[in-house]
Amino acid sequence: MKITQNPELGRYMTFELSKEKPVHGWFWYKEGYAPELVEWALKTEQETAGRRPEAVLDPFCGVGTTLLTAKELGIASAGVDASTLAAFVSRAKTDDYDNADIESALAFLQKKLDYRSAERLDWPFELFSTKAAFPKRNHTEILALREAIENEEGRARNLLLLALLSILPQSSIILKDGGVLKIDKSKRALPAREIFKRKVKRMARELVGRPQGHVPRVFLGDARALDIGGGEVDLVMTSPPYLNNIDYSKIYGLELSLLAMSKAEAEEVRMRAIRSFIGRRMDVGEMPPEVGDAGLRIPIVGTYFKDMESCITEMFRVLSPGGAAYVNVSNSVIHETHVIVDEVFAQMAERIGFAETEIVVGAERIADVRPQKVKTRESVVIMRK
Ligand SMILES: C[S@@+](CC[C@H](N)C(=O)[O-])C[C@H]1O[C@@H](n2cnc3c(N)ncnc32)[C@H](O)[C@@H]1O
Repeated sequence: MKITQNPELGRYMTFELSKEKPVHGWFWYKEGYAPELVEWALKTEQETAGRRPEAVLDPFCGVGTTLLTAKELGIASAGVDASTLAAFVSRAKTDDYDNADIESALAFLQKKLDYRSAERLDWPFELFSTKAAFPKRNHTEILALREAIENEEGRARNLLLLALLSILPQSSIILKDGGVLKIDKSKRALPAREIFKRKVKRMARELVGRPQGHVPRVFLGDARALDIGGGEVDLVMTSPPYLNNIDYSKIYGLELSLLAMSKAEAEEVRMRAIRSFIGRRMDVGEMPPEVGDAGLRIPIVGTYFKDMESCITEMFRVLSPGGAAYVNVSNSVIHETHVIVDEVFAQMAERIGFAETEIVVGAERIADVRPQKVKTRESVVIMRK
């Protein structure tokens, strides 16, 4: 295991740069990274392996940054995510759209909405009543838009639904605070229909002249058991959930429930998800030997590495000989214990059979691990088969 520094990468490990980029910025995903990180991985692979990767996989594809970057560069790709919301957003961002799709999305903005019928609709959400999360007018407008979008057909429907899901944070009085949703009565919610219109217009503008083709295959699935043949992938570029006790099915619960119009969906997402948060299935069985005693003392450390061991084993299986996995991850401080996640990943990868590993450190910060402070870091673990 080699450890090197590349401080330039730190900026690419957040969603900040994606926000203003055409199509990439359509859906704010705090846990996402920037297309520059994917470009760096592709360039590094080309220089190291002497060939441009022709098949890219992201087994935790989130909102599709890896897939969209591959499409923009004319490279075939596939993505997997446990969340119905993430899989939907990835598909909608990476599909090919023609002028007729864009025109139907814009024409939808002129439609008359049925507010009466919307007021009778139920928006099933497991955490609290959605009526508490929005000003009354916004709640009705969102449901009226949701109902009208349901009657749309084809690819325009996906564009409109994505636009609607993407405006929920701004049109609500909810704050996403760490791993929880909080109602904040002092927050100013923006008018839902207005920002929806603005969003659809932005999307229509950004679709003009986009690269077509290389539409990725996106699966709703589980990175611990991939539905992909052995040796089919040249490059894995990904960022799994961090060891931080954050449950994505909760923080994106409003968006997920509006997409699925069902309460049960969140539990299904949770069943497929890596156990990086405290849940019901905290049994570990045999622990990967690299984890050490933190895995026994802190249940989610054990479940996290157990699940990530299965994922790294799957990455090894699907990679072609000489192919590599680039895994963006952060070390964690949990229950006042500093867990060196990147080194455990690299050690597990070597045991699983990867020929070499390298940890490229992109960012460092100081964390409080009482009684002392420690330097912790965010990095990309490169695992070469
Ligand atoms: C850090 S985010 C990835 C963000 C992505 N790099 C981007 O730029 O959008 C991790 C993703 O892993 C997904 N996930 C969690 N457990 C999973 C599993 N077992 N299989 C596949 N995806 C999973 C989450 O739903 C989340 O979207």
